[in-house]
Amino acid sequence: MPSSSVSMHGMWSSRLMFILAATGSAVGVGNIWMFPYMVGVNGGSAFVLAYLICIAVIGVPVMMAEVLVGREGRQSPINSLISLSERSGLSPHWRVLGWMGALTGILILSFYGVISGWAMAYVVTTVSGDMNGVDASQVTAMFDSFTGDMTQVMVWQGAFMIATIFIVARGVGDGLEMAVKYLMPALFILILALIAYAATTDHFGEGFRFLFQFNAADLTAESILAAMGMAFFTLSLGMGTMIAYGAYMPPDANILGTVGLIAVLDTIVALMMGMVIFPLVFANGLEVSAGPGLMFITLPLAFGHMDGGQLFGGIFFLLVTFAALTSSISMIEPAVAWVVEKFKLTRAVAAIVIGGIAWLIGLGSVFSGNIWSDLQVLGDRTFFDSVVFLTSNILLPLGGLIFAIFAGWLLNREIISGQLEMSGPSLQVWSFLIRYIAPVAIFVVFVMALR
Ligand code: TRP
Repeated sequence: MPSSSVSMHGMWSSRLMFILAATGSAVGVGNIWMFPYMVGVNGGSAFVLAYLICIAVIGVPVMMAEVLVGREGRQSPINSLISLSERSGLSPHWRVLGWMGALTGILILSFYGVISGWAMAYVVTTVSGDMNGVDASQVTAMFDSFTGDMTQVMVWQGAFMIATIFIVARGVGDGLEMAVKYLMPALFILILALIAYAATTDHFGEGFRFLFQFNAADLTAESILAAMGMAFFTLSLGMGTMIAYGAYMPPDANILGTVGLIAVLDTIVALMMGMVIFPLVFANGLEVSAGPGLMFITLPLAFGHMDGGQLFGGIFFLLVTFAALTSSISMIEPAVAWVVEKFKLTRAVAAIVIGGIAWLIGLGSVFSGNIWSDLQVLGDRTFFDSVVFLTSNILLPLGGLIFAIFAGWLLNREIISGQLEMSGPSLQVWSFLIRYIAPVAIFVVFVMALR
């Protein structure tokens, strides 16, 4: 018996709305900006292959587990973990996993707000026509001088953080549902149009091969770790977002079908972005391993040379901003829901406090492009790169590992079969993946890469 059929924080109005919200969380700057640059830095198709495998054998089963825990618990991830632990005869200390997730979400939002701020700024840059006819070195110089301008980046980051806090404060149903309903399909169509443009560059085949001509020999331990981290990041796993969103999911929606669809949509968007970016990289003689600036260099270049590029570019970066917003709100939902439950605060106050903390930490990432550009935090990484590495390569897989053990080995089996509505072979496959494959794979990749 589920502990309750509704959540005090509100509910998605239908299964479709859950799909849109969860897909909105999954599809974001991770797919559009980070995936192509990670592919470039990690050597192309071998990384893509590792990423696809991680999505299928680790991502999908872990997401199913997160959603089921949320829907059964119907509270913030922390309190859902407490209540399900008690019902499974376990220590309430499993709540620590929820705390770790809530903190991870705040850290992720800290740098996410900066990149999303860049995307917002680029709406203006493209529409203004500043990019018309520029060449590769000019676009690169413009990007460097923009990220080097502390005040400008701070203003855009601030604008994005205010928008995030505002939406979270308003809650589950209002605004958010409306936004995802129209904006996600629009983004999809625009990316298709960009692929069509990339196909005219006569470097499309080269870009395609870079993504898909798999050569397992190129794989290194470090790139497999990056692929695994990317899989967690892009599916919004490993920190409780899907537990939080699962708590607002209608009781009658099937978890396997829903999660499968979300994973497929998310993967398609990432691969489509790869098909946009790499042909443009090769056509313009750019470096595939340009790193975080990749999208902000290749796309303005393309927009600067196509008919109607000013308008197209503006719309594109606007949609990226919206895709980022439907993700950013999901990063602090776990912490906000918990603060509301624990301290009986209103959503608005909770959103301001939690969002404000992420904003402050994010200033470190703003400074990494300018006054702190020489500061090295983890190894030779800047503050910004360190937070990206710490969250996506360490904290998310680690959270996923501990959570897989919790869900696969310790959680009451009746709760699981009731929520998943699965039995026989399909339940066995899921159990096998969550008990053995996911934890062992995450552990092995960790040890190999961190050694
Ligand atoms: N999945 C989003 C993206 O690809 C980012 C995101 C949203 C996220 N919520 C998250 C990442 C929770 C990790 C954890 O852009």
